Amino acid sequence: MSNQFPTLHIVDHPLVQHKLSVMRDKNTSVKDFRALVGEIAMLLTYEATRDLPMTTRTIETPICSYEAPVLAGKKLAIVPILRAGLGFEDGILTLVPSARVAHIGMYRDEETLEPHFYFLKYPKDIAGRDVLIVDPMLATGGSADMAITKMKELGCKNIKLMILVAAPEGVKFIYERHPDVDIYCAALDDHLNENGYIVPGLGDAGDRIFGTK
Ligand code: URA
Repeated sequence: MSNQFPTLHIVDHPLVQHKLSVMRDKNTSVKDFRALVGEIAMLLTYEATRDLPMTTRTIETPICSYEAPVLAGKKLAIVPILRAGLGFEDGILTLVPSARVAHIGMYRDEETLEPHFYFLKYPKDIAGRDVLIVDPMLATGGSADMAITKMKELGCKNIKLMILVAAPEGVKFIYERHPDVDIYCAALDDHLNENGYIVPGLGDAGDRIFGTK
């Protein structure tokens, strides 16, 4: 599906696309699915952190003095939406080990598809951090909207959303409510079905990560 959303960044890399196709296959094991979520999380993080500010530090190489490019030390917090967002956590922390982690708990009512908030634990200085909210599936956008709104209420200003598979309905919803939030994903799928599942999608991401079906 073509991307008509200004805030949506699709990471159209061969490794990402191949790994996602394996994940979509209903015969892929829980063990492989979980490993692949972690691998794609790292590849998406690579793109989502591309604009981190840089500075230089003078170092001595074995040959000479050198003004070496280093991260300027902008502080990051990742915010996995429980529970499927936990699948992204280790992969992101592998690349950004000093990031702080806030957890936000939401479950979606299977009848109404509305998100219900039940948990939030966050670092005290979160308002001063860049925030990366993570959840594998952007379906209606209700949970992501609630998570972004909570982070804004805490004073966070620079917020990004990192997703595995997005539905156009969810991207549109988030874009209309939060045009300041960039969204990074591996794929923009076709539509949501009558049960709120993304088509073609990969099924219930939480069940497939944790083996709870
Ligand atoms: N949540 C999922 O886990 N999968 C979908 O397809 C939609 C929402």
